[in-house]
Amino acid sequence: MLVQALGLGGLLVALYALYVETSMKADEFYEPACVTRWGSCATVFKSDYAHLLSHWGLVSKNGQWDLSLATLGAMNYAVYIAYPLWRAPTLLLTLSLASCGFSIYLLYVLKVVLQDFCVVCTTFHVINFSMFAFGALPEYRRRKIFKAD
Ligand SMILES: *[C@@H]1O[C@H](CO)[C@@H](O)[C@H](O)[C@H]1NC(C)=O
Repeated sequence: MLVQALGLGGLLVALYALYVETSMKADEFYEPACVTRWGSCATVFKSDYAHLLSHWGLVSKNGQWDLSLATLGAMNYAVYIAYPLWRAPTLLLTLSLASCGFSIYLLYVLKVVLQDFCVVCTTFHVINFSMFAFGALPEYRRRKIFKAD
């Protein structure tokens, strides 16, 4: 099913992002493959915005709960993959809307604040919007029409 497939795609990209993040932390000269001629994913990963929770002052910087976007993404996509286990279309819709909200905010940060192009981030955006349009919304409608829950 599409929700799971998109979740799996997202998880793989998030794991890649996590790998890049870790490698950059370990070696300051590390050049990730997602640094292209059009823009660099490294700029984003190194920026404050890669740790939104501390950026917003919700948790302390570099603390245990200062999870990176890649980590949060991986967790979230894992929840999508497990959808058949919890099957709640309204929750799915809410979660997916939140992902889109994040994407819109991060798109703004990327274009306006950092003025960068980042392949990995673009993939996340495409997955997040597709999850809503082709995954969560149709699932929600199907379930509501047939009153399956
Ligand atoms: C996409 O969705 C994931 C999971 O909900 C979220 O962590 C992420 O911030 C969203 N946006 C982007 C650009 O990664």
